[in-house]
Amino acid sequence: MPGTVVVGAQWGDEGKGKIVDLLAQNSDLVCRYQGGPNAGHTIIVGDETFKIRQIPTGVISAKASVIGNGCVVDPEIFLAEVDELESRGISTAEVYLSGSAHLIMPWHVAIDQASERRLGKLQIGTTKRGIGPAYADKALRIGIRAQDVLDPKILRQKIEVALAEKNVWLERVYEVEPFALEEVVERYEGYAKRLRPYLKDTSLIVDRAIKEGKRVLFEGAQGTLLDLDHGTYPFVTSSNPVASGAATGVGIGPNRIDAIIGVAKAYVTRVGEGPFPSEIQGSDQARVREIGAEFGTVTGRERRCGWLDLVALRYAARLNGLTSLALTKLDVLSVFEQIPVCVAYRLPSGETTREFPCHQSDFHHAEPVFETVAGWAEPLDDVESIAGLPEAARDYVSFVERELEVEVSLVGTGQDRERVLFGNGFEKLYRDKSVT
Ligand code: IMP
Ligand code: MG
Repeated sequence: MPGTVVVGAQWGDEGKGKIVDLLAQNSDLVCRYQGGPNAGHTIIVGDETFKIRQIPTGVISAKASVIGNGCVVDPEIFLAEVDELESRGISTAEVYLSGSAHLIMPWHVAIDQASERRLGKLQIGTTKRGIGPAYADKALRIGIRAQDVLDPKILRQKIEVALAEKNVWLERVYEVEPFALEEVVERYEGYAKRLRPYLKDTSLIVDRAIKEGKRVLFEGAQGTLLDLDHGTYPFVTSSNPVASGAATGVGIGPNRIDAIIGVAKAYVTRVGEGPFPSEIQGSDQARVREIGAEFGTVTGRERRCGWLDLVALRYAARLNGLTSLALTKLDVLSVFEQIPVCVAYRLPSGETTREFPCHQSDFHHAEPVFETVAGWAEPLDDVESIAGLPEAARDYVSFVERELEVEVSLVGTGQDRERVLFGNGFEKLYRDKSVT
């Protein structure tokens, strides 16, 4: 199984970082294919906590890492991450950055912030890291790419051209401070020197690795419902987290991908605005948030919490072509005697559907149809296998499998690296002596 995608099956924050970290032990190369520092992966190794945003999680396991052409990179954040990792004894010598990845420039951040302010009640609730404006400039063909740092003259010229326009927007439309050309140029020339050694032909690196039979992991950021094309537009991110994004975002053919592992929490969370049918009403919302520690890695915002939404998850299984599912944070539900699960939506027309609505008004007004299942109401701390789960917890997992027609290959029962239970499929594919 040389090519495996790990993709968020909900609205992000499903615990992908932990799954990728686990799979990375048995991989040779780990690649990010979209997004930028809006992502926040938390990995706990022993007593150490790592929060990384820009560099693929595999770096912590000393794996070669690729930041693909589909990503947007904030050089300041990337270099700060490099420094932090190096200072903690983790080498970045095998971090490879695609020259075609776009750079997040200071005006992207300023525009992201100003435009959210301007939208007021209609705001998207972005991470304000400049993601949307950077991708917009990419599509407009006026973006600055990582490879532009190779030539100081080109870099200066591109910054000059961009600023001439962006400053007008900033001052006249958003009524905020413009940027001084020389300051930006000087800052980016400094970054440029430090970025150069990381620039590589990443499509070729990945292709060669696959040809040599190496195991390549593609690490998605955000999640399926935040996908620009397929998510809950406009409350989405500006790239394609879905599994097929791995092919374009790294520069390989889709036939090089063999396995697609969706990651979903045993419940659902969402940060930012937008409709959320299975959002928990009442005090259980805060209870789930507290127990699950549901606060954003990047922004520290409270995450909205909902019961597991199988309509949305079925949609994710379809869009990604999931070959298996990792169900994380099952332990968070241990305090509940009864657990509602959303199995269908009631639409404004009165119709009940098990399929995700393709039109926004239906989705915005969808009422969740819950089926309540028995909780297990006991801790999962000492459970060592899926078969060893309390009966009600096993039933919960089987229920998800039946509804999705996708095998649950992994169950998360706690935040430590060790707290995962492997299903048969997973055992066969990924577990060897190096995974403990
Ligand atoms: P942006 O990606 O910063 O433009 O934000 C767009 C939407 O995606 C907002 O609702 C964000 O809260 C959400 N989002 C972006 N990155 C993440 C993430 O890593 N986890 C969860 N939500 C995210
Ligand atoms: Mg996150």
